[in-house]
Amino acid sequence: MKKYTLIGPFKQILTMAGLPLKGALSDEQLPILENGGIIMVDEKIHAVGSYPEIQTEANRLNAENIHIQTNMVCLPGLIDAHTHICFGGSRANDYALRNSGKTYLEIAKAGGGIWDTVTETRKAATSSLIAGVKTRADRHLTRGVTTIEVKSGYGLSVQEELKMLRAIALANEQCQSDLIPTCLAAHMVPKDYNGTADDYLLEISTSLFPILKKENLSHRIDAFVEEGAFSPASIAAYFDMAKAMGFDITVHADQFSTGGSAVAVKYDAISADHLEASTEKEIQLLAKSNVVATALPGASMGLGCNYAPARRLLDAGAALAIASDWNPGSAPMGNLLVQAAVLGSFEKLTNTEVLSGITFRAATALNLKDRGTLKTGLLADLVAFPTNDYREIFYQQGMMPPSLVCKKGKLVMDI
Ligand code: NIG
Ligand code: FE
Repeated sequence: MKKYTLIGPFKQILTMAGLPLKGALSDEQLPILENGGIIMVDEKIHAVGSYPEIQTEANRLNAENIHIQTNMVCLPGLIDAHTHICFGGSRANDYALRNSGKTYLEIAKAGGGIWDTVTETRKAATSSLIAGVKTRADRHLTRGVTTIEVKSGYGLSVQEELKMLRAIALANEQCQSDLIPTCLAAHMVPKDYNGTADDYLLEISTSLFPILKKENLSHRIDAFVEEGAFSPASIAAYFDMAKAMGFDITVHADQFSTGGSAVAVKYDAISADHLEASTEKEIQLLAKSNVVATALPGASMGLGCNYAPARRLLDAGAALAIASDWNPGSAPMGNLLVQAAVLGSFEKLTNTEVLSGITFRAATALNLKDRGTLKTGLLADLVAFPTNDYREIFYQQGMMPPSLVCKKGKLVMDI
């Protein structure tokens, strides 16, 4: 038996439906449904429409009723398309050192940075990794984030990467949000590896990739293309293998130096993330491609550096997603909405561009076609904020907590 539930009336529903994937968006383009309601059927959306009309349909279907008594604005559940929330330890020391003048790369060279988290993550029991992921994912859920990409990349050996990806899979079973796992074994060359960078990548691609397939642990392969991590030349064979095996590609690109975005375009990656160092050349390259450009304002805030050129990317015609990059090193804050709102203010993005970046454009950055807008047949992932004007959400710079979060048709938070 199908279970139908009517939820509403909402003062405004921002369906995000019908907007283009690429390019600049004005707030006049934002479809706003006033006094709307949504009928959910099991995990999915059955219908979205004006409340009186939808009520008639709900009666016909014998739907349960979640009646909203106060003014609320409803939008698709938020999607965080880039995080590293599976890790052990803390990098408070790095953060303090950075703020005393040391650079991210200097700290990494001195034994801090990513390697420090690798050491702590390897020491951590699977159960404590799961608990950490769950705590962070639950915190995201209370802020309206219903889908979270989670990378490995702090294991850096076949066994340790497997430990992380299995922990992420187990955490996914315990979380109400969806966790989308990504293999980031190419985060850096492990300091204890007995061989060259090429040897390491070859071992990962030949030994780990088949297990990822067999155990269905991830269908996404990421690499940090950067000085001190992997060069465009060294990552080529790795991505060739990943593509040949049918994995989606995503790249940590142009964070401190350029080169990564060209790799992303060459490999027809789903997304190129970071882009703080991108110049006009990279902007044009991305804009002409199908690669989603993902800005990570949380990393700019954590490192105290410039934001990705989001305005110029959009004006050039790129698809822009915005993600938190939540990780223990460069982006410890982990508040997607605040970061997206602040990026909007620094980069002069319209509310519609910011909202698109954390909903349907973020879904595209994960190659997910079943979410990101509110329309019939897609997942019933919703978030509603206690206001009668959606612009308040950004005016309050992402600090307004949602009143209600629905994941796959189930009320997971209601205050
Ligand atoms: O996206 N840039 C590389 N990786 C992460 C940082 C990971 C870390 O510092 O632990 C990032 O910023
Ligand atoms: Fe990252």
